[in-house]
Amino acid sequence: MAEGQSWAADAVIYQVYPRSFADGDGDGIGDLPGILERFDHFTDLGVDAIWLSPFYPSPGNDAGYDISDYRDVDPVFGTLADFDALIARAHAAGVRVIVDLVPNHTSAAHPWFQEALRAEAGDPARDMYIFRTGRDGGEAPPNNWTSVFGGPAWTRVDGSDDWYLHLFDPTQPDLNWDNPAVREAFEGVLRFWLDRGVDGFRVDVAHGLIKAEGLPDHLPAGDGDAGLAASPTAASPFFDQDGVHDVYRAWRRVLDDYPGERILVAEAWVEPLSRLFRYVRDDEMDQAFNFTFLMAGVDPGNLHRAVDETFAAAAEVGASPTWVMSNHDTVRHASRFGLPTPPPHQRGIGPADPQPDQPRGRRLAAAMALVELGLPGSAYVYQGDELGLPEHTQLAADERRDPVFARSRGTELGRDGARTPYPWSDTEAHLGFGTRPDAQTWLPQPESHRGLARDVQRAAAGSQLGLYTELIALRRARGIGRGTFAWHALDDPGAGLLAFTSATATGTVLVIANLTAAPRTLTGLPAGEILAASHPDAMSDGVLSADSAVWIALE
Ligand code: NOJ
Ligand code: MG
Repeated sequence: MAEGQSWAADAVIYQVYPRSFADGDGDGIGDLPGILERFDHFTDLGVDAIWLSPFYPSPGNDAGYDISDYRDVDPVFGTLADFDALIARAHAAGVRVIVDLVPNHTSAAHPWFQEALRAEAGDPARDMYIFRTGRDGGEAPPNNWTSVFGGPAWTRVDGSDDWYLHLFDPTQPDLNWDNPAVREAFEGVLRFWLDRGVDGFRVDVAHGLIKAEGLPDHLPAGDGDAGLAASPTAASPFFDQDGVHDVYRAWRRVLDDYPGERILVAEAWVEPLSRLFRYVRDDEMDQAFNFTFLMAGVDPGNLHRAVDETFAAAAEVGASPTWVMSNHDTVRHASRFGLPTPPPHQRGIGPADPQPDQPRGRRLAAAMALVELGLPGSAYVYQGDELGLPEHTQLAADERRDPVFARSRGTELGRDGARTPYPWSDTEAHLGFGTRPDAQTWLPQPESHRGLARDVQRAAAGSQLGLYTELIALRRARGIGRGTFAWHALDDPGAGLLAFTSATATGTVLVIANLTAAPRTLTGLPAGEILAASHPDAMSDGVLSADSAVWIALE
């Protein structure tokens, strides 16, 4: 969708991880009534929209990304009536609601898969998924693909020479998107939620639906490849195939049948950015998560390049950029920024690993909030970013729930450390999450979150929560998200400085960040009023202190 047309172009979108946001019924797992009870948090922060990670019926083998019914709410999270109440409350408050759509795979418990397992080869029920005869007379998988969660991407069907494909857990069989019946079924799912009033969909593994013709072996990336290209999620016969775009063109037409501006957001780990932005061409999706920016961390050179390439790629297709630093799949950035070499996100951080320098990580998280929210485009905030929450780095093996941990035999710790229940209060049981005092939360909460609880930060001057609230309000008042981007003369990534402006018809805001551990004197600093600072002493006498950032309204 072309720039400037959609509400989403400059929206701040808050990711709610329902399992860990607020527990309305006290059973240890967050739920929709819990979100409703805590709804004021979104309006207090001033976000434009919330995105809800999956709450659909699911055996919960991948925290709900294994769905067994696309048209209902899992009883653990509530009912469809609770969902309707949440939408009504959100819309009354002017907050949009985006839901997660998981089209690459279902749960193995989905009736489609159960039927496929019972069906003979050639039966249409079988053709909903990707079954193939194994090599070596059925003994070996049909090809060499490995699962993103570790181990082979194929599982043999009991008592048969056939295997089925699963790019993730064996309990997440991949759907066959070459089958028109799959396409039709998902258009029905889109309509089901659009009819209930959702404002859009975050599309899980958007780059994975179509597999290369003939399912050829995957030739690993060369040694010289870096970044996303070096991960198992890129440059492969199962990701970013050209055919996926037809699917999104069809979905665009479905969304356009509805009043208002409903959006599609791609979760696509695709590089380079020029390939990613193909997902947001005019007749496809509205946004794609910018994981290149996320992966740039606090490296000034990488950030500079990521920002440059983002604006260039966005301009090519007339789309608006997005910015994101954390989500439920990554190590929380307040911890990542406190490590000299951050771990790959599924690797996690455990008790035996070098621990992050937490004060530095938190300082840099505050500085990077000024960078992220100061960039024109749309910004995603993962629940807890606004509190500067660190990762839970002390989880014991038997407390881990992420299938990545077991599938990789513990070589990857998984993503649980970023998913622990939200700390609302430092005095209540389970930090005010809502779980009954006699019950357990589904993941333990780290002691490090107590002093950072929402109520503590609300009462304290100069808190990270206060900073996020202020930045979001200023961003809206000054139109920063809709401004024109330009690098400023002070920009000097080699010296650890990022400096850029967002200009609108009514004024220009300069963002300067010092991402090094030493103060930097800013020679040639233009006159202007300091609008916001990552901490009270960030700037004095033209010196920007270490790990700090400011917003300046230029005169
Ligand atoms: C991306 C989701 O964000 C992640 O949590 C999930 O494990 C995979 N897709 C598979 O659905
Ligand atoms: Mg509950």
